[in-house]
Amino acid sequence: AAVGKGNHRHFMEKELHEHPAVLGDTLRQYLDPGTQAVRLPRLPFDPAVVPRLTISACGSAFLAGLVGRYWIEQLARLPVDADVASEFRYRNPPLAEGGAAILVSQSGETADTMAALRLLREAKQSVLAVVNVPESSMARESDAAVLTVAGPEIGVASTKAFTAQLAVMACLSIGFGRARGHVSAADEAKLTEALLEVPSQAAEILACDAQIQALAVEVAKARDVLFLGRGSLYPIALEGALKLKEISYIHAEGYAAGEMKHGPIALIDSNVPVIALCPTGPLFEKTASNLQEAAARGGRIMAFTDADGVGPLSRFAEQVIELPKVGAFSTPILYAIPVQLLAYHVAVLKGTDVDQPRNLAKSVTVE
Ligand code: G6P
Repeated sequence: AAVGKGNHRHFMEKELHEHPAVLGDTLRQYLDPGTQAVRLPRLPFDPAVVPRLTISACGSAFLAGLVGRYWIEQLARLPVDADVASEFRYRNPPLAEGGAAILVSQSGETADTMAALRLLREAKQSVLAVVNVPESSMARESDAAVLTVAGPEIGVASTKAFTAQLAVMACLSIGFGRARGHVSAADEAKLTEALLEVPSQAAEILACDAQIQALAVEVAKARDVLFLGRGSLYPIALEGALKLKEISYIHAEGYAAGEMKHGPIALIDSNVPVIALCPTGPLFEKTASNLQEAAARGGRIMAFTDADGVGPLSRFAEQVIELPKVGAFSTPILYAIPVQLLAYHVAVLKGTDVDQPRNLAKSVTVE
């Protein structure tokens, strides 16, 4: 049956509001609330012995892969290479014997990712595809497929499929960590419990929409926007910039907060909003000091943080949006939602074709 917009103005808006349901459906597939353990899907490799992992994808799916790399290296102590598929396919990297790969794709049809899949299989790597479309080419041609349970995504710019990819990567990283002896049963229970709260936390974040809409009014006036994050939020800064470019046509860059001093700080003046992903936690002080440097140069800091971050950031930030306090592990999933909402509202203010942005396709099946 054809998918409708319901009472939403755009498919993208409808899909943004599906985050809690989609995250719940995806997490329930790979987590057991009863035993508070990960239910690993069938894998084509043994995560306990695999020497190295390659992650490849395009667009937002690649950014989900970058978060996956961070989690897998942290929790499973398994070395991960991540590269966009269009580069990976021509880079001819040396691949470990007995190595494995994860490809991430909503459609399961993206030409470059498909080419990476075929190369990896020829190179005798065990290939796992994280896909949203069960009958897709990638699901068929990989050694095994793990499904995101996002349902059909119509808006060209990925939203709920992206957070569902993150949810799957989170579950895989815990499972790999367990298999490799770096995550204890107690750690697994804690991480599982934290992830099971993500759907209701996503709903709380959607409830902050009015504040994000107000922020969008400022961002819509800008010609250039900088997104900053650190650690597992660095890829989310990249996602924020990508989304804003894709649907509002405003130039945006995502940067690792600590790298700002090596370039983008030269762009900063009172016309450039700096959107900071800055929850409290181990990297808070570092990010906050990077932001202060930007503020000292006239930069307009607009920060997303939690209750404990509001005070310190308000000393120099123009706007501080308080999001619910969430565990460090879940932040990339949850902080993806406000940056997507922000891009959506800016695009609506700009009057662009939100669901069908110019020059972009939902699934790029040519090289
Ligand atoms: C296009 C879409 C993006 C998507 C990318 C990868 O560029 O506009 O939203 O992230 O393709 O698509 P895939 O289907 O492989 O996830």
